[in-house]
Amino acid sequence: MGDDRFIISSVKGMMAIDSRGSPTVKAIVETKGGGIGVALAPSGASKSEKEAVELRDGGRKWRGRGVGLAIARLESEVAPRLKGADSRLQEYIDALLVEIDGTSQKKRIGGNTTTAVSIAVAKAAASTAGLQLYRYLGGAYASTLPVPLMNIINGGVHAGNELDFQEFLILPVGADSFKEALRIAVEVYWELKDLLKEKYGLNAVNVGDEGGYAPPMRRVEEALEALSRAIDRAGYALGEDFLLGLDVAASQLYDASKGVYMVEGRSLNQGELIDLYEDITRRYHIVYLEDPFHEEDFDSFKELTRKIGYRTLIVGDDLYATNPSILARGIEKKATNAVLVKVNQIGTLTETLKFIDMARMAGMRYIISHRSGDTEDPFIADLAVATGSRLIKTGAPARGERTSKYNRLLEIEEDLGPTITYPKKVI
Ligand code: PGA
Ligand code: ZN
Repeated sequence: MGDDRFIISSVKGMMAIDSRGSPTVKAIVETKGGGIGVALAPSGASKSEKEAVELRDGGRKWRGRGVGLAIARLESEVAPRLKGADSRLQEYIDALLVEIDGTSQKKRIGGNTTTAVSIAVAKAAASTAGLQLYRYLGGAYASTLPVPLMNIINGGVHAGNELDFQEFLILPVGADSFKEALRIAVEVYWELKDLLKEKYGLNAVNVGDEGGYAPPMRRVEEALEALSRAIDRAGYALGEDFLLGLDVAASQLYDASKGVYMVEGRSLNQGELIDLYEDITRRYHIVYLEDPFHEEDFDSFKELTRKIGYRTLIVGDDLYATNPSILARGIEKKATNAVLVKVNQIGTLTETLKFIDMARMAGMRYIISHRSGDTEDPFIADLAVATGSRLIKTGAPARGERTSKYNRLLEIEEDLGPTITYPKKVI
């Protein structure tokens, strides 16, 4: 006998806007038992070619970025198939979404549609069961709060400055709880603001897409120096209380016609980049290095992991695009020792959880992540705790779409009470 309460009674789509003003899909799923799940799809800027494709209207309105078609397909094709299904059957529902779409990159109904619906179904089931989402998804294993990888200097395509690397991250590993981690990280964020203002003037503290400052710097080392000085001035020790991270987002720097990377006006080959990474990771306590090469260059990833993987997480974001079949190749090649996880890169929760399981089985770290265009939906905070991710990447402690995740993690920590752990060891 089934439990009627979990049966999906309604599936609706609505347009919302993301943190860059772009239209996005909001899915609303209701169950017979009165449960409701609302989810919004985020959207990247430095996207991988391998990602699920967002369905956009084209044309003049919204500069082509409208989601009218995505919502129409959600209501005419997805809703009738999901109605009457048990909301707890996530795998079945996600398989239906994949089948309805019928393309390898979810082009037809859109990865934006499938992402919002898939997450909304999980939320509706959790709400019907009267369970917190992290508990519904993670069961008894949800007992670890993640270390935030805070992106407090923005560059690349996320900011209007000349920094080539996209993200400069601080990891508050010296805290005893998530709440303490947030406090010390915010103190460093404020200290950095003072320091940037003193050195570069008021314009230097305008923020980029993920809430980090976007100072008029060009050199990577200048940004790393600023981070280490801010940590020091805030009264903390780099290497003990804080470690550093970088997302190079190197696909954006790669000149395929010449086979080189453009960094600070110089063109560097793979070997020169590896030397650069070996040097700066050692000097600046960098334990996290994401997308150091372009998204097809598995061999260079492998070489760098072999050289410094024992002390630094080499993380594949655009490299894998949260895709289990691409990860299989990375595992076979030993390309990285960590993976970034973004539900909307693959488009369903089930495929995302499969990706995480594969990474875990291969001994790789996995990091739950937001997108540079995000929304007030705090979903990834619950996902991080549910999957026991030791790290979460969700921007600076600024802008509502970033703070919604931090504030949700504070709630979860309080909800879990004394049973929680905050991992100090991230590698
Ligand atoms: P995106 O950037 O959301 O613009 O892709 C985030 C990242 O590269 O990690
Ligand atoms: Zn990235």
